[in-house]
Amino acid sequence: MQTVLKADGIKVQYGGLIAVNNVSLSLEKGQVLGLIGPNGAGKSTLFNAITGFAPINSGKITFLDQDVTHLPPYVRTRQGMGRTFQTERPYEDLTVLENVLVAAFLKNPKRKDAERVALSALEKVGLLDRAYQLSSDLNLARLRRLELAKALALEPQVLFLDEIMAGLNPPALKEMIEFVRTLTATGMSVVMVEHIMEAIIQLADHVIVLASGNKIAEGTASEVINDEKVIEAYLGTD
Ligand SMILES: Nc1ncnc2c1ncn2[C@@H]1O[C@H](COP(=O)(O)OP(=O)(O)OP(=O)(O)O)[C@@H](O)[C@H]1O
Ligand SMILES: [Mg+2]
Repeated sequence: MQTVLKADGIKVQYGGLIAVNNVSLSLEKGQVLGLIGPNGAGKSTLFNAITGFAPINSGKITFLDQDVTHLPPYVRTRQGMGRTFQTERPYEDLTVLENVLVAAFLKNPKRKDAERVALSALEKVGLLDRAYQLSSDLNLARLRRLELAKALALEPQVLFLDEIMAGLNPPALKEMIEFVRTLTATGMSVVMVEHIMEAIIQLADHVIVLASGNKIAEGTASEVINDEKVIEAYLGTD
């Protein structure tokens, strides 16, 4: 097993609020790490801390054997972190292909190379037939797939997915689970923040549960969903 990502003792504080409190995690190549927890648990903040979008107060992040703790997001992206954002942000007056090209240019300055990478990313998420439509014409399920394609066009070693399944209807959810499964089958490593338990159960090799900034449980999906502390965090003590 090759450890591709390691975070040690991550702490993120916003004024008086400790959003992430001394959380550690590690990810092996080709595996899916699921991050779950109630609203406001600190999942996106931890995710942002690892990808460089949130400042950390203490802790260390090692990515592909390099200390990236103090590197800006675009450098981490260049080194192989590819992420989606919880709220999709397409350039609405650009086509689907152009949206993905913006990401593909990061590692491919030549238009021809960038286009090849972008088209391949669109193919992987089943959006090739929409390449020349405006992104503003896409429905929610396709917008999510566009977000995934944008992250893939960064040619990442580790893919960070923040709630890409939220709000999808059952067929679209099933499809999205399949897209992620196909990616991991080819060796992609994934960190996934997700509220949809079906996706976690089907995809995650290891699950970490956060509540109020703290790691309260970890293990396989079936281990954590039966953990009393986890049930309590989701449902309250009553
Ligand atoms: N930039 C910020 N400034 C101040 N407080 C923040 C900031 N970002 C997040 N927080 C706070 O940190 C806590 C954790 O938020 P975070 O968005 O990480 O939760 P989450 O687990 O992703 O929740 P959700 O499931 O709703 O997406 C919340 O109390 C939130 O209000
Ligand atoms: Mg969040």
